[in-house]
Amino acid sequence: MTEIKTMKPKSNTIISIRTENVIKIYKRKGVETSALRGLSCEMNKGEITIIMGPSGCGKTTLMNILSGISLPNAGSVIVQGQDITQYSETQLEQFRRDKISYIFQKLNLIPTLNVMDNITFALEYTNKMNEAQQSRINNIIELIGLEDHTKKFPDELSGGEQQRVALAAALAKNSDIILCDEPTGELDSKAKMKVMELLSIIKKNYPEKTIVIVSHDTDMNLIADRLLYIRDGKISYEMSTEKLQKIKTQGEIPIEVHAEKSLHNSNDEDLLTELRELNKIISDKLEHYESRNIQKHKLKEKMDNI
Ligand SMILES: Nc1ncnc2c1ncn2[C@@H]1O[C@H](COP(=O)(O)OP(=O)(O)OP(=O)(O)O)[C@@H](O)[C@H]1O
Ligand SMILES: [Mg+2]
Repeated sequence: MTEIKTMKPKSNTIISIRTENVIKIYKRKGVETSALRGLSCEMNKGEITIIMGPSGCGKTTLMNILSGISLPNAGSVIVQGQDITQYSETQLEQFRRDKISYIFQKLNLIPTLNVMDNITFALEYTNKMNEAQQSRINNIIELIGLEDHTKKFPDELSGGEQQRVALAAALAKNSDIILCDEPTGELDSKAKMKVMELLSIIKKNYPEKTIVIVSHDTDMNLIADRLLYIRDGKISYEMSTEKLQKIKTQGEIPIEVHAEKSLHNSNDEDLLTELRELNKIISDKLEHYESRNIQKHKLKEKMDNI
């Protein structure tokens, strides 16, 4: 396997995932669907990348490819310096097991296992945890606020609680890359904020992880470091960490966003509308979000013990 030489940190940023011209064509009953049409993007270590875009634009397809459960027809997918499209089946299996936690769009809790067993399911030490492992899992359960639910089964939990169990399981697995497809899709705003807070706290406390979230929900931008908009199987707009930071601190769309928009998408007013909406949401809600007492300190203390 060749090491990709260009995978070097830019300033203090480390690119964790890079796709280059990824093409994915589904073939079913003689019908071809081009789900990804030359998609190139980057995701950084220690950051939350949010992927947005209309239904059917290829978001879940991209997540399946990043997780190694689906292979592209062409293009490369470089994860931590290795092109996973060149992996053998055994290497891919190992990659999925060791590197990836994937919370699917349709939740994948196992209905016949209770909450505790769902959380520990992916771990090799299920049923034979030592004291340190048990304590680590207990800390995660406490952090995610599931202490009262460990004996329940998924159908005895609310949608938000199920999402939190899935997050706890992803954390328990302790993989470098966490992929979440619509983690707040069905939730009311309170449950959604809780999941967002948790994702944000996970990012702060695990700076070695790369978190990629697909979402239709512009509120998610509040916790994003980087935004990718997909349209028709390609990146139609990318908002870098620096630009997003600028929007959050200055409260307005930076001038280069307009310039890039006219370069890439001169006939598409939707994108500018989306960005204006995004800007408004960010400036309106950021203050509210930051000023809320969300017991961050208490949660941080718990995280520090994990
Ligand atoms: N297994 C499959 N076989 C055939 N076509 C598929 C398959 N999976 C997805 N597609 C098609 O590929 C395109 C991209 O689908 P994908 O699920 O990636 O979209 P998405 O952006 O995640 O949409 P949503 O926001 O609705 O979840 C769609 O046109 C979809 O119909
Ligand atoms: Mg999807």
